[in-house]
Amino acid sequence: MAAREIVENIYAVGTINWDLRYFDAIMPTPRGSSYNAYLVRGTEKVALVDTGEPNDEAEFITNLMRLDQNSLDYIVCLHGEQDHSGMLPLLLDVFPMAKVVTNEVCKGLLVEMHNLYEMDDRFIIVGQDDTIDLGGKTLKFYLAPWVHWPDTMFAEVVEDKVLFTSDFLGTHYASETLFQNDDLPDYLEAAKRYYAAIMMPFRASVREYLELVKTIDPKIIAPSHGPVLKMPAKIVDLYADWASETPKNKVVVAYVSMHGSTKQMTNFLVDALIQRGVPVNQYNLLDTDSGVLGSAIVDAATIILATPTVLFGPHPVAVNAAYLVRALRPKTKYLGVMGSYGWGTNAVNYLAEMLEPVGAEILEPVYIKGLPDETTIVDINKLADVIAEKHKDL
Ligand code: FEO
Repeated sequence: MAAREIVENIYAVGTINWDLRYFDAIMPTPRGSSYNAYLVRGTEKVALVDTGEPNDEAEFITNLMRLDQNSLDYIVCLHGEQDHSGMLPLLLDVFPMAKVVTNEVCKGLLVEMHNLYEMDDRFIIVGQDDTIDLGGKTLKFYLAPWVHWPDTMFAEVVEDKVLFTSDFLGTHYASETLFQNDDLPDYLEAAKRYYAAIMMPFRASVREYLELVKTIDPKIIAPSHGPVLKMPAKIVDLYADWASETPKNKVVVAYVSMHGSTKQMTNFLVDALIQRGVPVNQYNLLDTDSGVLGSAIVDAATIILATPTVLFGPHPVAVNAAYLVRALRPKTKYLGVMGSYGWGTNAVNYLAEMLEPVGAEILEPVYIKGLPDETTIVDINKLADVIAEKHKDL
């Protein structure tokens, strides 16, 4: 991607990966992503904010050359994860006079992850509200741990009200335009996937830093992935909604079936919920990537997992889904498990135990031998009644 001007003497110099289909080898990224970095030129000093993936070094260095940037005074590291710091060792070689500006926690991570031992003289440590004067451009730093690592911080160019927010308010979304219309449905879908996979477990921190962003009142938010946002940005309001602790009147039923019994149970439950007027979405886990499931559970008040029994326990695909729900810690209030078995009988208990750390109420499971019968239908209707009752006030 070409180096592009955001405002006078602030440039986007990062890279776009149109072909990226899995971020961190786990998160599906159907729209690719970008690894954003920014060049801030003052009259006295020049700072690079973040670096990028080591694989993108040719494109990255080319962007700096296009701007005739042959030296750097500072390399600001807002967050140590390798997608933003991976090029740091190279850049420290290429720009031997450059100092790394970061916070104490991030420095520790950078040193250990990139073997930057014996390089204390290359680091400048900053803390909350510290500033660095570049000459007409002042960088001000805000510590923002846990969106999503303990080292994250933001940096503001005070004079221009441009706020670099690291991963916060980013999106895995490759785009040819620097500023994105954030009303686009595919952008919003990508943003929700990103929030679910990266920010959802840290909702309390998300809420805290949304308030910080409001206080700073930037004109432009420049995250480390996806488009640069002109304020007011729709994504900020969406984050507030997603990160609230109030789920929506919505049920997610995710299932996997081997011989059709669990699928029948799932269909019965979904039909029963529809009959009771409860909004519900059904997902076959064999066809549902983790990004779709993650997005679905951002605001669902109830999640039901349904599994057949494989040997003594749940189907591995259902275990994978339970692990995802447990790891992402949605604000779901009610969790349920259903399943069928032939001879092994520990599938639903296994899933229920996996889901306990989410902290939601675990509903009475429905677990049957073989195909559903009249008794099963009665039990599933009871489950639907319970869910409908609990959703009445949502
Ligand atoms: Fe985009 Fe946490 O790295």
